[in-house]
Amino acid sequence: MTEHDFTPARAWFGSRGFARHDTAEGVVAFRDDTGGAGSSWPLLPWPRGPLSEAVIAALRGSPGTLSSTPPVENIDVLADDDFELALYLCYELHYRGVTDEGWEWDVDLLRFRAEMERAFLNRLRDETVYERHVAAEDVGTALDTLISVPSGPSLSAHFVESGTLDQMREFCVHRSAYQLKEADPHTFAIPRLASEAKAALVEIQYDEYGLGDAANMHATLFANTMVALGLDPSYGSYVEILPAATLAKVNLVSMFALHRRWRGALVGHLVVFEMTSIQPMGRYSQALERLGVGPEGRRFYDVHVQVDARHAVIARDRLVAGLMSTEPYLGADVLFGASAVTMLEQRFTDHLLTSWDQNISSLSPWENVRR
Ligand SMILES: [Fe+2]
Ligand SMILES: [Fe+2]
Repeated sequence: MTEHDFTPARAWFGSRGFARHDTAEGVVAFRDDTGGAGSSWPLLPWPRGPLSEAVIAALRGSPGTLSSTPPVENIDVLADDDFELALYLCYELHYRGVTDEGWEWDVDLLRFRAEMERAFLNRLRDETVYERHVAAEDVGTALDTLISVPSGPSLSAHFVESGTLDQMREFCVHRSAYQLKEADPHTFAIPRLASEAKAALVEIQYDEYGLGDAANMHATLFANTMVALGLDPSYGSYVEILPAATLAKVNLVSMFALHRRWRGALVGHLVVFEMTSIQPMGRYSQALERLGVGPEGRRFYDVHVQVDARHAVIARDRLVAGLMSTEPYLGADVLFGASAVTMLEQRFTDHLLTSWDQNISSLSPWENVRR
């Protein structure tokens, strides 16, 4: 993409910057500003189809008012913006207040979410290949194998070689859906684990939350990178233009986080993050430096190069091994979580690189957002 390329998404994205509360024509004017008292989502996104429309319409009203919902069938769920946005909003209720906090445990919305989760899980099972009958003592080796197999092109390699500043800004907009709540999904595993696995996870999470210093929380460091890139670091500000490929990755970890049944998969998900982080994080930092971003904007990546060398060992040799010693029957779930995140990360990478190869934005075009 050159400086002068113009796409609907880029026009929106470019006008956004820090202008979240601006009244720039075509930005705030399109959005629903009915967030209830105590909401930490100042604005609901616009729907992208019938499923997200049902969720957003419900969230505008009071809990207990969701009646009929559209069928969840014949949907290519991993590629469907509407599906992934609807599921994403259902999960966000458990992290931040979106509108009325009573929606978090609204039985009709939970029923609708469960329908979407079934479709999501079925597709994930179809798309993942892993050992379904693995002995507890073989899980560590199976993870090493899964991680060592190259799954396709690398985003960090693209950035270190030739990524542009516009592409870096887009990339961080995508990543903000997870990084601004980095570590929160995995924290849900803590009460569900025991002894060594629990202690290992707490040790990792303590680093993720900045060793008790809010300014050093990894989510805060990522917000600083967004500021350095001229982006809006406020939570949820770009959800409207995130494509299914991005939302699906966050929905995956949220689904694992919110179901005790998926604690093994949540551990597998975290292990992949910790064991595959160092080289890409180093490359992103190099790319940011080449693009003129100073140390404060690069610190998120530099910190990960340092701490994830240690986290990778804790995750593999204490978290997974500890879980296998107390619940050896969860080995296949650990591999499912690891395999699912690897598959979705590759789909995400493919989406970005394909879009940029075609000289178009990887964010969802504004005309696809229903008004
Ligand atoms: Fe981190
Ligand atoms: Fe880490």
